[in-house]
Amino acid sequence: MSDSLRVVSVVGARPNFMKAAPVARAFESREGLEHLLVHTGQHYDENMSDVFFRDLGMSPPDISLGVGSGSHAEQTARIMTSFESEVCRKIEPDMVLVYGDVNSTVAAALVSKKLHIPVAHVESGLRSGDRMMPEEVNRVIVDAICDIRFVTEESGRRNLLREGIDEESISFVGNTMIDSLARLVGSGESGAESGDPYLVLTLHRPSNVDDQDDLRRLIEAIEEGAGDAITIRFPVHPRTEKVMEASGLLDELKANSGWDLSGPVGYREFIGLVRGSTGVVTDSGGIQEETTWLGVPCVTLRESTERPSTIELGTNRLVGVTPEDVREAVSDVVAGRHRGDDRPPPPLWDGRAAGRVVRRVLRYLND
Ligand code: UD1
Ligand code: UDP
Repeated sequence: MSDSLRVVSVVGARPNFMKAAPVARAFESREGLEHLLVHTGQHYDENMSDVFFRDLGMSPPDISLGVGSGSHAEQTARIMTSFESEVCRKIEPDMVLVYGDVNSTVAAALVSKKLHIPVAHVESGLRSGDRMMPEEVNRVIVDAICDIRFVTEESGRRNLLREGIDEESISFVGNTMIDSLARLVGSGESGAESGDPYLVLTLHRPSNVDDQDDLRRLIEAIEEGAGDAITIRFPVHPRTEKVMEASGLLDELKANSGWDLSGPVGYREFIGLVRGSTGVVTDSGGIQEETTWLGVPCVTLRESTERPSTIELGTNRLVGVTPEDVREAVSDVVAGRHRGDDRPPPPLWDGRAAGRVVRRVLRYLND
């Protein structure tokens, strides 16, 4: 091992890649510092993982742990044991960067901290207030133990202060996920889809998709809200696909001309889809932010959001999952009553967040 400082970024699931890619790029140009990318393998299908490395122009992972799927305990435990032996013991990082709120995030943070390796959390402080969400549990744990807390929006700072976190550790840098989006849009490689009007739908929150009947009710309400004049383009997450396949809903929608189903699509294709759409209906975290930045109407099928700036400053509407509310919200988008517009992006969502992250990490390591 060389004498240079070693910083490790940990990614594992789809929403990690677009948050880490710009940070990895910003580290590349730094002398005297080695940045290594570790992929836990939480997501592993070509269209849930490899495609993002290509679309984001990101070098392949330096280390792949290949943990795969499992229950929360199984998956988190597998990440912890292999991250400890294959990364912390072998590489001896000077700092570990974790992103977002997935199981890979909490597993790597816990292992690092117990080995006294400083941890920085990119996308710290977001809170839905709903501890039934696995992600909320992950966020609270990571934020309680990490050393640098990079926040994307003002609510993150407020939430951390309310939890008694030392203000010195909080760094409001903006949103590295938006760095990736701004770069893609600026490159001209993800033009808006054209043609007949369509809505984009994504669903994968356990509370929406794990129960077959609830999922069917939600899909029916969306379909009724959309009416006959617009197609619903639905790249189906593997978690959702499993449930829809078991209930027969997958085949029903594939045979229905109002629906256009596919597997998950790559980042470039997905952003093109969103940009060309009449609006997006989703339960995703990150897509609420991307639609805000793009000025595309977004209907969020959840009872709470950890990203309130997308509602205060953006085009997001938090609708819940009651069928009448879903129907009305979707029909508002189709009828043009809920529009996107050109309002300015939230503060520091300017495509330059990763540089701020790297400068702060270097200050910490050189102090
Ligand atoms: C995970 C994150 C969630 C994030 C989502 C992004 C946790 C607790 N959850 O949820 O916060 O919003 O990723 O997409 O970390 N599967 C495949 N192929 C894959 C990956 C998963 O078939 O490449 C299937 C497996 O059956 C697996 C299921 O999807 O059991 C769920 O995957 P998992 O990573 O456990 O959770 P997600 O629902 O993807
Ligand atoms: N995304 C994608 N293809 C898809 C669906 C989503 O590239 O078929 C991208 C989306 O643009 C965003 C990220 O995946 O950058 C969000 O991931 P996801 O919704 O799975 O997770 P969450 O943000 O809810 O944790």
